[in-house]
Amino acid sequence: MAVIIDGKKISQEIKDEVRTETENGGIDACLAVIIVGEDPASQVYVNNKKKACEYCGIRSLSYELAGNTSEEELLELIEKLNSDPSVDGILVQLPLPGHIDEDRVIEAIDPGKDVDGFSRKSVGALSIGSNGFVSCTPAGIIELLKRSGIDIEGKECVIMGRSNIVGKPMAMLMLRENATVTVVHSRTRHIEDVCRRADILIVAIGKPEMITHDYVKDGAVVIDVGIHRIDPEKNNGRKLCGDVDYEDVEPIASYITPVPGGVGPMTIAMLMKNVLKAAKER
Ligand code: GUN
Repeated sequence: MAVIIDGKKISQEIKDEVRTETENGGIDACLAVIIVGEDPASQVYVNNKKKACEYCGIRSLSYELAGNTSEEELLELIEKLNSDPSVDGILVQLPLPGHIDEDRVIEAIDPGKDVDGFSRKSVGALSIGSNGFVSCTPAGIIELLKRSGIDIEGKECVIMGRSNIVGKPMAMLMLRENATVTVVHSRTRHIEDVCRRADILIVAIGKPEMITHDYVKDGAVVIDVGIHRIDPEKNNGRKLCGDVDYEDVEPIASYITPVPGGVGPMTIAMLMKNVLKAAKER
């Protein structure tokens, strides 16, 4: 029987801390959110980010651009927001339509306003341990572990997945916390054996319920970054699942994050923290 890590509760604590700081410190922070096109999932994420801003006492500016907006137009908007002193953070919701080069867009954001932490400068700063914005999902996982009283130092941590947004920055953060870090991926041999070495197993592979007890050591901490829509009629009314087969893994784990309500809510809470940091540093 595992302790369930309550990401909803912990994310609420963090948002309350941000709100207290903006209120008591009289900090006038502002996030510009840009969305291009009408991807329904992205619209939900962006709306949740705007709502979180409102709760935290952060002003948000919303730019909803048509799906046929050109790369040049988007870059011009970013340039305008870069030079606007009243804007602290700039977030471009991904994915962008195929005709726009995401890398070029991310690199156009002023590193001092890159609250997503996706730019080369932010990633580089994280790699060498200097001050910068850390990508929100991995930063949120560190908060989940620390606020649940889980020691990281000296532990074997296995990260499944090597994406630029989660796997790679997660590895850097766990190293910073003095864990022994292994990153496994689709080409890793004997992957189950490697995963079973983990005291802390962080799963970000994007495959619904792939991780069963065969991948998990007795007493391991299991963090599930995945989120997938599933058919409620075939799944006892459940609408969402993670990368981890929760029913199968929970009995042998010491701590586990549920889906929904685990890692997901932390991403937005950490974004709010990054916007506050941007405002304080300017
Ligand atoms: N799309 C999915 N997750 C994210 C995120 O954390 N930030 C941005 N900008 N786009 C996303």
